[in-house]
Amino acid sequence: MTVVVSNRGPYRFTRTASGGFDAHHASGGVSSALRPLLTSGAAGADAAWIAAAHDDDDRAAMVAGEAQAPGIALTLLDHDPALHRLYYDVVSNGTLWFLHHGLFDLVRRPRFDHRFTEAWAAYETVNRSFAKAAAEVASEGDVVLVQDYQLALVPEMLRAERGDLRIVHFSHTPFCGPNSIRVLPDHAALALCGSMSGAIAGFHSARWARSFEASAREILGNDARCRTFVAPLGPDPDELAELAESPAALTAGQELDELVGDRQMIVRSDRVDPSKNIVRGFAAYDLLLAEHRELRERVVFVARLTSSRESLPEYMAYANEVEQAAARVNERWATNDWQPVVVDLRDDYPRTIAALARTDVLLVNPVKDGLNLVAKEGALVNQRDAVLCLSRDAGAWDELHETALPVHPYDLAQTAGALHDALMMPASERASRAARWRELSAARTPRDWLDNQLKAAHSS
Ligand code: G6P
Repeated sequence: MTVVVSNRGPYRFTRTASGGFDAHHASGGVSSALRPLLTSGAAGADAAWIAAAHDDDDRAAMVAGEAQAPGIALTLLDHDPALHRLYYDVVSNGTLWFLHHGLFDLVRRPRFDHRFTEAWAAYETVNRSFAKAAAEVASEGDVVLVQDYQLALVPEMLRAERGDLRIVHFSHTPFCGPNSIRVLPDHAALALCGSMSGAIAGFHSARWARSFEASAREILGNDARCRTFVAPLGPDPDELAELAESPAALTAGQELDELVGDRQMIVRSDRVDPSKNIVRGFAAYDLLLAEHRELRERVVFVARLTSSRESLPEYMAYANEVEQAAARVNERWATNDWQPVVVDLRDDYPRTIAALARTDVLLVNPVKDGLNLVAKEGALVNQRDAVLCLSRDAGAWDELHETALPVHPYDLAQTAGALHDALMMPASERASRAARWRELSAARTPRDWLDNQLKAAHSS
């Protein structure tokens, strides 16, 4: 049997008026990559998935025995909401996410005070409950695939209970380097590196694997034995093709045709997250319009954004900055019949697919990103030989660099230059780059990624 352990499960459940429950696809790359694989039996006939209940409806569905997923033995762990907040908001997203993506403004943050001590204890408690649940579900010698930074302590805790299991930990984020890991309190850095080096640790990019190894040596000493592997995720081509042909995507495509008309189009698609560098993206576009008068009224930048982690003040503040940055560009350049930036916050995946299909340029400029699957999805659905402008600090850069125009995530003039080059690129070069982009993006499927994890587990 394969046991998946991840913070989010395959579905989130909502109560219906008739007292039953609806299952909706849970957000995030981890869950959307694993759900089809596990429900289709790709991980073997027996699969179990342990995740956290995220709200009262999830909890109620579980109590009613209706938190189910086809083909998977699903367990949703019910943590006290205050405990969950400390684990999820304070440690996972407020600390580890910021650390691994290099987002801390170190003059002011982090501040490890009593609240953090309490939050770290909650992180340990929640990680322990996942480890315990996995230990209960798994049979002798089973493979356990632990996903992401929210559950970095699970490998060590599980190993202590069940030495027979084959445990992989896969990070969907970058891993911070040896100077940054020292920002964590010593006990936390030790626990994190100790746990992950006791498992086989997977990453989307060799850069993140190297960072982890260097950090582990920094914290555990030069003899630290790390076993890492690199296994980038790829999009599911069949699912994307089906979505691109869906009535919802086709209707959204027509709406975009009307909105954009004969202008060129730039698209981005991100969660509203400081790591995605959305504000600098708008600032670079502003610079582009300032320096290239001929592009005014000739381009529309559609930002497909989904709100994220709104319980964190940093995320709410960033969402405000994003809104203001877009408004500034529009105030400065809009004319009676042209809106330079269109921010679309609707949580609607077919609409995102339609935007990726219709665009001439795809901007992916994160300050750091574990992979960035959008950079590959764009290639598979785009209909117009779009040009990819890609941050060198996204994991996907490793695979896509020969076809993308590089973006230096902090350099506005450079980013504006990349957007300009992309918009001006001759049709023949666009076509040959787009063909290569498709080829590279289709090279790996979710199935390959899962197989790499299973193989790594069996090599242990
Ligand atoms: C990233 C993380 C995932 C996470 C997703 C959505 O992709 O690597 O682990 O699920 O963001 O974030 P959320 O906090 O909403 O789960």
